[in-house]
Amino acid sequence: MSAGHVDDGTRLLGSLVPMTAYDIRLIGDPVLRQEAKLITDIDGKLVRLVDDMLETMYEAPGIGLAAPQVGVQKRLFVWDVGMGPKAIVNPEIVESSGEWIFEEGCLSVPGLSWEITRPKVVHIVGRDMDGNEMSFEADELEARLFQHELDHLEGTLLIERLDEETRKVALKTIRDMQLGQAASLAKNELRLP
Ligand code: NI
Repeated sequence: MSAGHVDDGTRLLGSLVPMTAYDIRLIGDPVLRQEAKLITDIDGKLVRLVDDMLETMYEAPGIGLAAPQVGVQKRLFVWDVGMGPKAIVNPEIVESSGEWIFEEGCLSVPGLSWEITRPKVVHIVGRDMDGNEMSFEADELEARLFQHELDHLEGTLLIERLDEETRKVALKTIRDMQLGQAASLAKNELRLP
């Protein structure tokens, strides 16, 4: 998810291994439309993935990133709403309440955002990177982020949360932007010696 300002001064784990940023998958990539799979092992490989996802999220910059956005079909996302980097494995929202309007953006749909109404408070459960149970309530921005990232794990993008008319316009805008990018890429290629 992309929104607000993020202080990128912190990292989840100290490591001698340099972290690598991924390319963020963009709308149109089929990986964003698939349901992510439950994680059965929290191992060193998964810890490394979380580190790399955080690096990618901070570099973007964004405040949340789900594994499918880096092409990994696992039920996992990372986030930082200014309280430091966090990760959750196999997350589930078990309760939600209220209503909150927020202008929501997505790193996989760059440059665009829409006002979307969703529940204001959610209760989320899952596992941390040590395999311990996580269970807590979140409000407003953090609650919104959880709902947005959970959607990614279901293969749902934020444009599906728009009403039909707004979604039509949104899809056209996205197509025009993608065509524009393709056109400028082609021009650049023609300029190559
Ligand atoms: Ni997103």
